[in-house]
Amino acid sequence: MKIVVLTGSPHKNGTSNTLVNEFIRGALENGNTILRFDIPFLKIHPCIGCDCCGMNGPCTFNDDMSKILDTILESDMIVLATPIYYFGFSSQIKSAIDRFYSRNGQIQSKKLKSVFIATAWNNDNQVMIAFEKHIEILIDYLNLDNVGTILAKGYGYSGASTEKEYMEEAYKLGKSI
Ligand SMILES: Cc1cc2nc3c(=O)[nH]c(=O)nc-3n(C[C@H](O)[C@H](O)[C@H](O)COP(=O)(O)O)c2cc1C
Repeated sequence: MKIVVLTGSPHKNGTSNTLVNEFIRGALENGNTILRFDIPFLKIHPCIGCDCCGMNGPCTFNDDMSKILDTILESDMIVLATPIYYFGFSSQIKSAIDRFYSRNGQIQSKKLKSVFIATAWNNDNQVMIAFEKHIEILIDYLNLDNVGTILAKGYGYSGASTEKEYMEEAYKLGKSI
């Protein structure tokens, strides 16, 4: 399977990237192809809502997102990984998601498989509620076939006591693809 992975943390060796690496390790062992884009290190202008694309055409901005959109449309699965920032996606990855707008219908028609990975400092009952609801609606709206979600609470820094457990979960999820 061709899997496009979008990561949303500026910490190259941070928690969400650690889980992504484990997911990828498992997925590669099963013969999948990975195309990874570390969004915070790319040039991606936020959507300005000009509507030039009409939700189905070239975006006004010809930046790194052009290649990502082409890759998404050639893939079978999309993985979106993010640190939790104020109960949601990091602004970096949210900017990339907003740019799906110019290929909205094409993405919906693909019925892509999906995986979501999120890591948060807090370990309480509230921390993932908004994010979980957000992705539930996003999955439905984008017509995704979600095959796995890792919501890593209490995993705010590399080496946290929860790390091993979540790394194993991410590896197993990758290996199941
Ligand atoms: C701007 C910002 C907002 C954050 N908001 C939350 C939050 O709402 N809840 C939470 O538990 N942790 C929050 N955190 C902590 C991160 O989610 C947490 O440290 C995460 O593990 C970082 O992931 P990374 O290492 O992949 O960058 C925030 C951190 C930053 C920098």
